[in-house]
Amino acid sequence: MTSYEKLLLENKAWAKEMVQDDPEFFSRLEHIQTPEFLWIGCSDSRVPANQITGTEPGEIFVHRNIANLVVNTDVNMLSVLQYAVEVLKVKHVIVCGHYGCGGVKAALTNQDYKQVLNMWLRNIKDVYRLHKNELDVVPEGEARVNRLIELTVKEQVINLAKTSIIQKAWSEDNRPHIHGWVYNLSDGVIKSVYDMEAGTKLDPVYEYQDYNG
Ligand code: CO
Repeated sequence: MTSYEKLLLENKAWAKEMVQDDPEFFSRLEHIQTPEFLWIGCSDSRVPANQITGTEPGEIFVHRNIANLVVNTDVNMLSVLQYAVEVLKVKHVIVCGHYGCGGVKAALTNQDYKQVLNMWLRNIKDVYRLHKNELDVVPEGEARVNRLIELTVKEQVINLAKTSIIQKAWSEDNRPHIHGWVYNLSDGVIKSVYDMEAGTKLDPVYEYQDYNG
C-alpha cells in the first residue's frame, strides 16, 4: 500500500468511528456550518488548528499560508476573511503563528529564495524593519527569530484591523475580536501575544470614515 492509499483507508476507519460515537455527527454538519472562529495559521504540518485546540469539524473556519500572513493584496485570504466575517459572522479571528517558523527564519536570512517566495517573505522583512530597534538588541539566533515571530503575529492582527471588512463589522456588529497567538512546538502550548477587541482605535490614517463616524 502506498502512503496516500493509507490516508484513504484511515479516512474510512475515522468516518466509521465518528458514527459509532455519535450517529448524528455527519447529518448534523451536512447542511449547516456555524463556526465561531476564523483561524489564520501557518501551513506548517505540525500546527493543525483543530487538534491543538481540541475542536471538532464545524467549529473553526480555517485559512493557512506560509508564516500566517495577512497581506492586503491576497485575494485568497481576503475572500476567506470576508466570507467568515460577513456570512458566517464569526465572533473571533485568531492569527496563530508558531515558534521555530521556517518562513520567519528564512526571511531573516539574505538567501535568494527566488520569486514567488521572495515576494511573500518580503512582508516579514518589513515587520523586522518596523521593529528593528527592539529586535537588534535581542541576541541573534533563536531568541531574535522567536521575538520576530511574535511581532509578525502582532502586525498581522493590526493588518486585519486595517481592512474595511473588519472595520465595517466592528461598527455594525461589535465583532469580531482579533487575537494573536504563538504555538510552541516543543510543548504544544499556545501563548497569547496580542489582542484587539472590536472597536479598538488604530492609527487614524487606516480608518475608513464610513465606519468610524
Ligand atoms: Co511556520
